[in-house]
Amino acid sequence: MPHQALQEIVCCLGQPVAGNPTQYMMEKAFVAAGLDWRYLTLEVPADKLTDAVRGLRAMGFRGANFTIPHKVAVIPLLDSLSPAAELMGAVNCVKRDGAKLLGENTDGKGFVQSLRSLLDPSGKRIAILGSGGAARAIAVELGLSGAAEIVIVNRTVGRGQDLVSLLNDKVKVNSRLVHWKGDFEVPAEIDVLINATSIGLGDAQAQVPVDVATLRNELVVADVIFNPPRTKLIRDAEGRGCRTLDGLGMLVNQAVIGFKIWTGVDPDPEVMRDALEEFLNI
Ligand SMILES: NC(=O)c1ccc[n+]([C@@H]2O[C@H](COP(=O)([O-])OP(=O)(O)OC[C@H]3O[C@@H](n4cnc5c(N)ncnc54)[C@H](OP(=O)(O)O)[C@@H]3O)[C@@H](O)[C@H]2O)c1
Repeated sequence: MPHQALQEIVCCLGQPVAGNPTQYMMEKAFVAAGLDWRYLTLEVPADKLTDAVRGLRAMGFRGANFTIPHKVAVIPLLDSLSPAAELMGAVNCVKRDGAKLLGENTDGKGFVQSLRSLLDPSGKRIAILGSGGAARAIAVELGLSGAAEIVIVNRTVGRGQDLVSLLNDKVKVNSRLVHWKGDFEVPAEIDVLINATSIGLGDAQAQVPVDVATLRNELVVADVIFNPPRTKLIRDAEGRGCRTLDGLGMLVNQAVIGFKIWTGVDPDPEVMRDALEEFLNI
């Protein structure tokens, strides 16, 4: 690969950010695409975000990923937002275009791209467990992709209701809230069940409160948890004959989308998936 004196630089800003696998995936994909680019992982506390974004501008970084706790706080520091990022009120990917910083959200787009390998969400009835950042991003993109109904299942009513109102009023998709108490019984008309909570993160035995007997074999069951990828929910769903999607697909597809946003080049998704599995030792 030709080496230039100055490389193009993108980065990830978050805290805590150690152990984030994106740098490993991106750098393998840059090499495979013949691009002399660099991806830095940078630990930035909340009270230094403004300085950090000023630094990105000053040093001409081509773009950045923003992760916890910066996804919302970064918005006033940007010049414009994509329609989806505006609806979600959160940004995880920024592209520099000349002197302007443009905010996008690839969380939900990565999920929908992964889901499309099994089914087209258009016209489908979807139940989402959780109402945090991941659930919000996924729900908005599924609504924009033509889902017929989105049922939000959440333990905290206020947060769940905020998401339902956003979906009904702004995204214009039919949505209702189920207050999550005890095991959720998946209604017979649901086509796709998504765990978008943090239950299962770092714990392969953690039980998502769902009545396993209601997992019909026509259901697609997806989990956003990627470490470990074979969560208890995914194993239970497979045991019931459901088609399943682990969280690795969402993560890889987000990286694929971010790579294209920054470089204009389509990366090799296989290179990224292999890099992710190597990084996570799975
Ligand atoms: N695969 C990927 O590419 C990808 C991308 C983004 C995020 N993620 C993963 O997605 C997960 C969620 O991230 P986030 O940013 O959405 O987090 P978040 O904003 O903190 O939201 C977490 C959600 O999980 C719910 N929850 C947590 N523990 C629960 C429990 N014991 N019972 C019922 N509900 C529970 C919370 O409910 P309440 O509202 O009631 O508190 C909330 O709705 C994280 O584990 C993250 O690693 C994966």
